[in-house]
Amino acid sequence: MSENSATRITIRRPDDWHLHLRDGDMLRAVLPETSAHFARAIIMPNLVPPVIKTVDAIAYRDRITAAIPTGHDFTPLMTLYLTEGTDPDDVEAGFKAGVITALKLYPAGATTNSASGVRDFDKAMPVLERMAALGIPLCVHGEVTDPEIDIFDREAVFIERILAPLHQRLPELRVIMEHITTEDGIAFVQGSGGNVAASITTHHLIINRNAILVGGIHPHMYCLPVAKREKHRLALRKAATSGDERFFLGTDSAPHTNARKESACGCAGCFTATNTVQLLAHVFEQENALHRLEAFAVLNGPKFYRLPVNEATITLEKRDDAAVFPARIETAEGPVTVFDPGCPVYWHYA
Ligand code: NCD
Ligand code: ZN
Repeated sequence: MSENSATRITIRRPDDWHLHLRDGDMLRAVLPETSAHFARAIIMPNLVPPVIKTVDAIAYRDRITAAIPTGHDFTPLMTLYLTEGTDPDDVEAGFKAGVITALKLYPAGATTNSASGVRDFDKAMPVLERMAALGIPLCVHGEVTDPEIDIFDREAVFIERILAPLHQRLPELRVIMEHITTEDGIAFVQGSGGNVAASITTHHLIINRNAILVGGIHPHMYCLPVAKREKHRLALRKAATSGDERFFLGTDSAPHTNARKESACGCAGCFTATNTVQLLAHVFEQENALHRLEAFAVLNGPKFYRLPVNEATITLEKRDDAAVFPARIETAEGPVTVFDPGCPVYWHYA
């Protein structure tokens, strides 16, 4: 590993611990944007209909595998969408067969395609207990859906009402707070011992809520959980670059067509697969933490998931010319805008 002042770094090939690939034409268009950079990704199950049973995950995994471009080395790590009716035996069988890596908990109604999520957490206890016993990680979308709660407070209130009591009830359950956006999320992870971790997205390290709302509404900056105040972004940067092994990359790259984003009721999701790796080098350099990029993007994730670390490496170098990223990816459903960091980025693949 090179020094912080380095203009060239070699790290092992990264993984993405939270990714939306969708299906069909969209899957075929966006998957190469991930498989070009990442060795593995945790694949979110919020399709329509959601990926609920192991048999659904096998079929989805096979559709993903069929869409990997020749020459790309990529392994999808499949998740099941936890419902109140999820069968613990199916989860156990899927995990033991190596099909399932984790389950995903969406509070019902929290985000895109989450209507089948959990309303009554007591109903999910049998499967959560089985997961705790087997060491199966639970990926959590940590926002309450109570309409009384301000959208900017939904993560903090989720911790208070749902996550802290769940962790107390089942401390052996291995939980990943997905795409954390607040100081509160960081503090909860830091105070919860080794069974609670968090993924952090690229875009939440770069934007705060002003990027969505100042100078007009910027729909391509809107995602869930919504970006928060600047103090939270700074806290996320500190956690991501700290080397603390409980924090790792999950891009939450979530493609929606421009027509669905640039609308009177625009969808939530930022599409960052294309430029995430270079943007992370930029962020870590700004934080004088290039030597910790590998921990965040490569080492900490597999450590929590108890998976081997990638062997292949990538080399990035800083040049005088800014990297040129495509503004959009063309798909058969329409164009998908690539996340624009709003500043030049000088990191390139060597
Ligand atoms: C995701 C999507 O579009 O599926 N959107 C988002 O804003 N992150 C869902 C999610 O992860 O919340
Ligand atoms: Zn997501």
